[in-house]
Amino acid sequence: MSPAAVSVSGLSHRYGQNAEAPILSDLQLTVANGETVALIGSSGSGKSTLLNLIGGLEPIQSGQVRVFEEDLHLADEAARTRLRRSTLGFIYQSFNLIPTLSVEDNVRLPLALAGIDRNEQQKRVTSLLDVVGLAHRQSAFPDALSGGEQQRVAIARAVVHQPPLLLADEPTGNLDAKTGQQVLSLMQSLVAEHNTTLLMVTHSHQVAQSADRVLTMIDGQLLTPENSDTSNVW
Ligand SMILES: Nc1ncnc2c1ncn2[C@@H]1O[C@H](COP(=O)(O)OP(=O)(O)O)[C@@H](O)[C@H]1O
Ligand SMILES: [Mg+2]
Repeated sequence: MSPAAVSVSGLSHRYGQNAEAPILSDLQLTVANGETVALIGSSGSGKSTLLNLIGGLEPIQSGQVRVFEEDLHLADEAARTRLRRSTLGFIYQSFNLIPTLSVEDNVRLPLALAGIDRNEQQKRVTSLLDVVGLAHRQSAFPDALSGGEQQRVAIARAVVHQPPLLLADEPTGNLDAKTGQQVLSLMQSLVAEHNTTLLMVTHSHQVAQSADRVLTMIDGQLLTPENSDTSNVW
């Protein structure tokens, strides 16, 4: 059996040394290789915190987090940065494009950071911008794009280095329903093509229904569909 893409056990997290209640408390999670998991839960329940920890954006305070068998809880910042560059794509709710870089250069960035040959960079960027329907906007800057276009650039940037794990934090949260549907379809086709593991936070029923599995975050812990009534968290 191939190793899990994500394996979390006993994960706890608090912000600030004197914070009273932990945001995450003794959390367990396993995401199989190739699986798509939707994570739902009310605002402030800790969904982004969990994604940020799995994504190596913050040090692990307590518990274990493994991403493709790399122990993030043992990793220093340099190791987490390496992991992010090689293994992860991250899509944010607010797109997070670099405003001073063109569309093309935003998408190129992960390849440049990975030291990929310049010709190969150009080939991949051009072909992916074509896939996301933005070839004609390659020289534009992010502020000239609509929200849907910016999110398509952000998706292209997140998958251009073909990461085995894609983390998405409310990827359709800032988009209207129709654009959200297009962005979701695009993510799904890219994920299917490369057997990418996808863990995404969402408030959308439609997005959650497209996942292999839906998990609910309540009070810093995850409930699975088997042991919870999730009707009150939407
Ligand atoms: N950097 C931070 N410093 C202090 N508190 C934070 C920080 N980030 C998040 N929090 C708090 O942690 C809780 C969980 O936040 P978050 O993980 O963003 O939840 P969600 O994504 O489910 O809305 C919230 O109460 C939030 O205010
Ligand atoms: Mg959040």
